[in-house]
Amino acid sequence: MDKLLVHGGAQLEGSVAISGSKNSSLPILAATLLTKGTCVIRRVPDVSDTNYMIQILQNLGAEVERASGTVIVKAENIKSEAPYELVRKMRASICVMGPLLARLKEASVSMPGGCVIGDRPVDLHLKGLEGLGAEVQMEGGDILVKCEGDLQGAEIPLRGRHGSTVLGTDNLMMAATLAEGTTVIEGAACEPEVTDLADFLNKMGAKIEGAGTRRIVIEGVKELHGTEHRVIPDRIEAGTFLVAAAMAGGPKGVTLKRVNAEHLTAVIDVLQQCGFTIEVGEDTIHLHNGAEKVGCNVTTEPYSGFPTDMQAQFCAMFATMKGLSVVTETIFPQRFMHVPELKRMGADIELEGATAIIKGVESLSAAPVMASDLRASAALVLAGLTAKGVTEINRVYHIDRGYEHIDEKLIDLGARIDRVKE
Ligand code: EPU
Repeated sequence: MDKLLVHGGAQLEGSVAISGSKNSSLPILAATLLTKGTCVIRRVPDVSDTNYMIQILQNLGAEVERASGTVIVKAENIKSEAPYELVRKMRASICVMGPLLARLKEASVSMPGGCVIGDRPVDLHLKGLEGLGAEVQMEGGDILVKCEGDLQGAEIPLRGRHGSTVLGTDNLMMAATLAEGTTVIEGAACEPEVTDLADFLNKMGAKIEGAGTRRIVIEGVKELHGTEHRVIPDRIEAGTFLVAAAMAGGPKGVTLKRVNAEHLTAVIDVLQQCGFTIEVGEDTIHLHNGAEKVGCNVTTEPYSGFPTDMQAQFCAMFATMKGLSVVTETIFPQRFMHVPELKRMGADIELEGATAIIKGVESLSAAPVMASDLRASAALVLAGLTAKGVTEINRVYHIDRGYEHIDEKLIDLGARIDRVKE
């Protein structure tokens, strides 16, 4: 197992290219199961989660080739059972269920287990598929879904207690592409990754309208064909580098390249409220570091609100910023595993339910800390960049699940980070 040693105090400058989106790539890779044709997907980040998804596709019988960010999938003959040994490694494996059901009329996928960011139920995924006429059963920890004949289009409200569901919307949208008749998803997730998946499905011959809004209409078609697609830039990786620049940027600032600023409006707004100057180009974002910055209040919300996947990184930033910041998590109320670790580094943070009250301190001090999930780990790397001393981050396999070469990209910007074996 690797660990990272982050030497605090270096100033970041220069530019960094943002990778393709992990959270777009996963459902798009799953969607290749909907056709016998060949799909070519570009800008798939080389992270362990996309590797798990490729292993699942191969285990289901698909032929997969991968080189330099391009993944080619041909799912000519596939089976309907996704194995527990692979599925348990990644919750997003659940999104093979919709495509398998639509294509093979049955699917068996292990029920995803517990997750450190909170209880993550799949009731809405199942409600969606049942709405199309599928029968759902639980057996030995597996979810079995099947239908007699074709799935049937229907009007399906998909809003849950915490708002819309991203992968639940994806699963239903994928299944509905091959259903008979028209499906209307009410309360759909509007995240850019859902729109990217819809764009990919439409290129495969699906008829989907309204992706990116709360109401998605899918007219079922008889079959889908192979196609080519380029995955959108990873808005959460981009946001993480903006926070890195905000916390440790030198006077010249940092430029992000190959990024879509429109997807980052809520994140950019908060950084501007804190006092940073941000310039947006055609596919670039530049963050200047200048006058003194102050913390502010943030509440996570479904897109286009402030993303839960940026909450941990902003907690790290507010911990070193003047003033009081209040961070409220409404999507995953228990997603605060980074807080005790940041406190080990000297952060002044009080947790009250799903709210973190953060009083900025003059500086953090390095300590051995433990990565607990993807975004919490990123927050610890960011904290380490500004802390006094060398921060030792254990269990970095969490960060490798979703950030492509984060240590190397930060080193290119001037950070001092060593990756060593634990
Ligand atoms: N929910 C239900 N029932 C369901 C599904 C979800 O109650 O059947 C609840 C969840 O418990 C949560 C809320 O709905 O409170 C939203 O969860 P959602 O289903 O949208 O999450 P997800 O689709 O499983 C994706 C991302 C997460 C990201 C969330 C929220 C992928 C692969 N994962 O998960 O990304 O936090 O949307 O935006 O796209 C990450 O990248 O670090 C990550 C965790």
